[in-house]
Amino acid sequence: MAQKLLRAKKSKIAPKKDAVADVGVVLVGTYKEKQLAWIRKNSVYNYPIGEGDELKPESCANVKELWLYASANAKRHCFSAEFVGIQTKDEFLAANPTYKKLGPSRHMRYLVFKTKSLAYGPKIEGTTVFARVSDFSSGRSKKVAKAIKQFHDGGEFGSLADYLPTELSKLPRERLRVCEAAVQLRFWDLPNMEAIKPTVPFPPPAHPKFTFIDLFAGIGGFHLAMHALGGKCVFASEWDKDAQKTYETNYGIVPFGDITKIDEKDIPVHDVLCAGFPCQPFSKAGKQEGFEDETKGTLFFDIERILRYHHTKYIILENVRNLVAHDNGNTWKTIHSHLVELGYRLTPEPLIVSPHFFGVPQLRERVVVLGVYAPEHADLPLEIQLPRPKSKDQCRLDDILECDNHDPEYELSKQEIEAIDTWDEFYHGIKEKVIGFPIWLDWFKVPPPTGPDEMPEWKQLFVKKNNQLYKNNKAFIDGWLKRHNHLSHFTPTMRKMEWQCGKSVASAWDAFMQFRPSGLRIKRPDCAPALVAIVQMPIIGKYRRRMTVREAARLQSFDDKFIPNPNMHQAYKQFGNAVNVEVIKRCAQSLFQEVGANF
Ligand SMILES: C[S@@+](CC[C@H](N)C(=O)[O-])C[C@H]1O[C@@H](n2cnc3c(N)ncnc32)[C@H](O)[C@@H]1O
Repeated sequence: MAQKLLRAKKSKIAPKKDAVADVGVVLVGTYKEKQLAWIRKNSVYNYPIGEGDELKPESCANVKELWLYASANAKRHCFSAEFVGIQTKDEFLAANPTYKKLGPSRHMRYLVFKTKSLAYGPKIEGTTVFARVSDFSSGRSKKVAKAIKQFHDGGEFGSLADYLPTELSKLPRERLRVCEAAVQLRFWDLPNMEAIKPTVPFPPPAHPKFTFIDLFAGIGGFHLAMHALGGKCVFASEWDKDAQKTYETNYGIVPFGDITKIDEKDIPVHDVLCAGFPCQPFSKAGKQEGFEDETKGTLFFDIERILRYHHTKYIILENVRNLVAHDNGNTWKTIHSHLVELGYRLTPEPLIVSPHFFGVPQLRERVVVLGVYAPEHADLPLEIQLPRPKSKDQCRLDDILECDNHDPEYELSKQEIEAIDTWDEFYHGIKEKVIGFPIWLDWFKVPPPTGPDEMPEWKQLFVKKNNQLYKNNKAFIDGWLKRHNHLSHFTPTMRKMEWQCGKSVASAWDAFMQFRPSGLRIKRPDCAPALVAIVQMPIIGKYRRRMTVREAARLQSFDDKFIPNPNMHQAYKQFGNAVNVEVIKRCAQSLFQEVGANF
């Protein structure tokens, strides 16, 4: 996008000869056409600096400091300097007390450079140059940009002074030149910037084996899988701001927003297209509108238009299991035929995979579509051999548990503990040990209302079973109810219980539990049910606490180096939405092996 604009326009405009300033402020990032026009008009260099260009000595002869405002996903560099180190805000301010006005930001980190071999002249050799890396779309950066504009328009510092170090804001206006330049920079692209890599846990590989794009990127389940196989992300799209933040923290890339607004021509060339497109329109829980859902179902067509333009060699798509059955199989047939028509060889049926197939203790069946661009043989089915799936009994939840996490934020409430204790006592008191229906306290003594309008038949059946259970255990249940004040202080959810683990555990406290709208669900502690985006964090019975964020991450095979969103609820939601990394990694490996890809 902006890069193309830069290439197209820069050659026509010459640098301003008379631009001499003491301080240069360079805003680094991706700009829209309107912003570029403003930059050209106002910057020290009246053209944006593009690839291979550097700040010119003649225009920067007096520049003592360069402020480089960079967005972390920016791509090009405009200067070379020796990297001194990464400093936290506190470290930076301690070393440079005049910069206090830069203000705190959670996302900020300071990359400090000593100018060594700057392209813009020996005069400034040895001075400090620093880059303040911030989220470029944040309100603050916009405010800085606005203040710079006001500075140019009004001739005075105006609100720009708020963002300048005190000493600088005292300079006469003529001695400060604030420039914006549409320079794009990715620090690790600089040859001597190796040391910066650890600022994100998953920087792009130094020698990538292939490139990929990450559509509907979420927090990057696909990214991690491709990264593990040596892939480098060249484009990501995700419109949720919180997910974008998590993505940036981990990969140093701020995903672009709404994919429907992105021109396919602006997406870089790539080897693999990854997309876990939103599943609502296809999921059983949704309205089953599929492609007729104009807003969401059509997102598949955005994938299609990208493929039509790029002829991407490999595709890996993921969706809910119900995609195959949706609309009597017509949805899958449409997707399949559209992809074949584009020239993709596909498996005749999409693969149904779950993390537990690979030993990860989560039951989460999903559809994965693998394809290779082969227009000559698009009708030849692709045979993909996945490793023999493991059964859920071969998975151990213990493998992902943090046995020593006693963080109070995961503690259960008193009422939750009481509810679990009360139902545990109930289970021990009744004669039945395998219960194949939900226990509904409020229906123990009430017969089911008859007639389908009153209550659906399946529900009537459950009520009858509850009536019978009560009769079988009347003496115990009456005493139990009395002892616990008829559970009258419990929420409606806590008045119901589903014992779904047969005789496999002796007590609820040995099980894996969840308070769900349908009641307290008690399950075997071998394999977790699918993690979902709704906040219903499961309870690990033996540790008497909720599942931790790290455990949720591990259920989705996110490496322990991954930094979850600092907001716990966002973190759970994001992992619930994510694709399982191991599943995608194994599927991609099988695809690459099958088609003889050389990576
Ligand atoms: C099922 S989630 C994919 C999660 C992702 N694979 C991961 O591992 O985290 C779908 C994502 O698509 C995003 N999304 C939906 N519509 C979008 C659009 N038009 N443009 C960009 N992102 C979109 C949602 O915000 C959501 O995060």
